[in-house]
Amino acid sequence: MATKKMGMFKPQVHRPHFVGTVFLPNKPCIPSSSRPSFSVRPWPQPQKKYRNNIRVGYFPSNIKAVAVASGTKTSISVEATAGVTLKSPNLLGGSLLLELVSAELDPQTGSQKKPINANAHLVGPKGAILEAEFVIPGDFGEIGAVLVQSEHSSEIYLQHIILDGLPNGPIRFHCCSWIEPKADHSGKRIFFSNKVSHHLLLFSSDRNSEKELDSLRGNDEGEHKTSNRIYDYDVYNDLGDPSKPELVRPVLGDSKQYPYPRRCGIGCLRYKTDPHSKTRSNSFYVPRDEKFSDVKEKSFRRKTIVCGWLTTIAHLNSPTNGEFLHSSDIVKLYYEGINMSSPVNRGFWQRVWNLLLNVKDDFLKFKPPALFLKDKFSWLWDEEFSRQTLAGVNPCSIKLVSEWPLKSTLDPDVYGPPESAITTELVEREIKAFMTIDVALEQKKLFIIDYHDLFLPYVSKVRQMEGTTLYGSRALFFLTPDGTLKPLAIELTRPPIEGKPQWKQVFTPTSESTGRWLWRFAKVHFLAHDSGYHQLVSHWLRTHCVTEPYIIATNRQLSVMHPIYRLLHPHFRYTMHINALARESLINADGIIETSFSPGKYSVELSSVAYDQQWRFDKEALPADLINRGIAVEDPDAPHGLKLLIEDYPFANDGLVLWDALKQWVADYVNYYYKDANMVQSDPELQAWWTEIQTKGHEDKKDEPWWPNLQTPNDLIGIITTITWVASGHHSAVNFGQYAFAGYFPNRPSIARTNMPCEEPTEEGWQRFLDNPNSELLACFPSKLQATRIMATLDLLSEHSSDEEYLGKDRKLTWDEEPVIKEAFNRFSAKLEELERTIDDRNKDNSLKNRNGAGVVPYELLKGVPYSISI
Ligand SMILES: [Fe+2]
Repeated sequence: MATKKMGMFKPQVHRPHFVGTVFLPNKPCIPSSSRPSFSVRPWPQPQKKYRNNIRVGYFPSNIKAVAVASGTKTSISVEATAGVTLKSPNLLGGSLLLELVSAELDPQTGSQKKPINANAHLVGPKGAILEAEFVIPGDFGEIGAVLVQSEHSSEIYLQHIILDGLPNGPIRFHCCSWIEPKADHSGKRIFFSNKVSHHLLLFSSDRNSEKELDSLRGNDEGEHKTSNRIYDYDVYNDLGDPSKPELVRPVLGDSKQYPYPRRCGIGCLRYKTDPHSKTRSNSFYVPRDEKFSDVKEKSFRRKTIVCGWLTTIAHLNSPTNGEFLHSSDIVKLYYEGINMSSPVNRGFWQRVWNLLLNVKDDFLKFKPPALFLKDKFSWLWDEEFSRQTLAGVNPCSIKLVSEWPLKSTLDPDVYGPPESAITTELVEREIKAFMTIDVALEQKKLFIIDYHDLFLPYVSKVRQMEGTTLYGSRALFFLTPDGTLKPLAIELTRPPIEGKPQWKQVFTPTSESTGRWLWRFAKVHFLAHDSGYHQLVSHWLRTHCVTEPYIIATNRQLSVMHPIYRLLHPHFRYTMHINALARESLINADGIIETSFSPGKYSVELSSVAYDQQWRFDKEALPADLINRGIAVEDPDAPHGLKLLIEDYPFANDGLVLWDALKQWVADYVNYYYKDANMVQSDPELQAWWTEIQTKGHEDKKDEPWWPNLQTPNDLIGIITTITWVASGHHSAVNFGQYAFAGYFPNRPSIARTNMPCEEPTEEGWQRFLDNPNSELLACFPSKLQATRIMATLDLLSEHSSDEEYLGKDRKLTWDEEPVIKEAFNRFSAKLEELERTIDDRNKDNSLKNRNGAGVVPYELLKGVPYSISI
């Protein structure tokens, strides 16, 4: 009987192992009014009796049909061939057991029809194709799934299975998954037909087996194996090392003090000294199907070797963690390179470097970044400083000044007077050629990047570390009549510290030499803060970190044939793997971020504060983000329904075209499967998925009132578009320009190591500044070790791998066989091609001064956008 209850669909897991009987639920997951898309019709019933053991032509001539005698009953059967494609040659041989599963119940017994088995064996010389022959009874019904069990001795990567010889054409099973050997896992994997059919949701297998649930969700005992596909939740408890006092870090997540998105659990044993922390493993667990491909892995490893060696080389050449002594030393990194000719670099390592690194004549060179190539002096220009707030690598921090005067919301008893030192008089002095401040505020011409209240509580703590410093900071800009931003002021604040009162000072562009150098120093400090915020919040938190829970919930709650699973799947490629690598060496205690960015060991903790204070799912949609920052107002008559206050805002202008294309594609897809609100509300998998994202993946924010409801198709379109925009457009905008803009670090230093020369200076220190301000600036810049490490890392993070998958490009998507969806996808692809042409045209338009001009790097970060956060 059809005994399945709705609750038994949960948890649905990514490519589950089939262990039990296929049951049909009392009612489908999605109401039966939905449009079925599975086009294989029930087999025609035999029209007449045939003689035993006689082959007859029944179906069209290209179909083989067989009349098979069974006692006195005869039925029409079909001979079908299953072609199995592996990704790599199966040199060791071995067969695959395949079982075809009917979508229909046996009308006599009401139970599942007996699957049809066959073994697939290697065919052809290349060892990557297997075939199995089936004889399918005429009354078998629609084929909805295939079960797979591997007799191989090691895991194999199963690409797809095509069942050929059927009356309505071939059925494709899109697998793209690793299959464990039978010896390691006795269960069978289940793959569903490419045709996403609502009633195929009936195929949810019997998941009430406790054993199965344990296997899929993990039991947190021991370390997960590399072959596992366990998707469970954990907090960020493996960044530090409680056994070493200097490496103790707070657990992020599951606390009021440090709320954080969840990550995938790795199942390590807990520390005895700190039950919340886990041992760091040399091999960070990633569910098997989330791992990099071989191509990606090789390319990534090669680059990380470069990073590692650069660090070593820089250290050998500069054992005192020295700074650049001359500005020309920075330029030499690109033209002359790092000297590799010291005695320790000879012999074996010499050959390794020559092979792996770009080493010529004993010198390792960095490639010149785009900004450096365009104008190596542009980092000095104020116009470029403000232009990059709109068209650089962190274009999503700038916002409208909506309140005046500026004021801190922090406790004045702890942090000192809250009033900003950027006064009305000071601003009017800067903009008097244009307007008064009242008019500027009224006409919405003042913009700000404000890190004051986020960083100020960390200033005292950070200053206790050696080799770094910090301020609360904000930068104010004026939108000039030509559409460019003019920087007006940078304010730096130090709270009361060591018995000294609050220190704050405002710096402005000036022609006077001391003031000009102080302005330059202030920009370096502000840019170091902006670099930290960009890396930790705009990039890591808002894309990599918040997306991981979406991936986990999608795999736990949506079956692989669920239409929304299929829609989202390309947007999650490689994200869990790159996030695991980030935990391993980027955001970990004493990792690349901590050792090279101003906040030091408080870096990742700061991203928890930003998550607490700033992150809201409903503001991550690009239009909502722009409105939230006061950059745009709703206007039904304007393109994209938004009027931009900064009209030439390259990130927003290109981003909104991409957002609209993405939203239309998502709408076409969602509206095809969900015709009304009832279908959304009554889909238990979908509802469980959205609930789990809020209550488990983002558990620390589960009670926030701003989570969108999921009641209507429009709700679903909004949620999916936001998730996919973050994974594609937003991530591209903040990721792929990192080397172009920060590879030449004077333009975006990751750290400012010394205080402002004017902060309570000693007589000697002030004189040093007056005598040689350039030397003091070099001492403030990142050290050689920090600079080269970050340059190598940003180079690694800014590159597309050769197997990158780009939005709108044909990637043999699973909706290929749904004509309506395929057409919608083709429209989406065409829009993205048009966007690329639009971006080219905009970059050539000399009226758009924020993306065109002498020495200006054109804005191309939303051209050729990958589906997912893959690096
Ligand atoms: Fe990234």
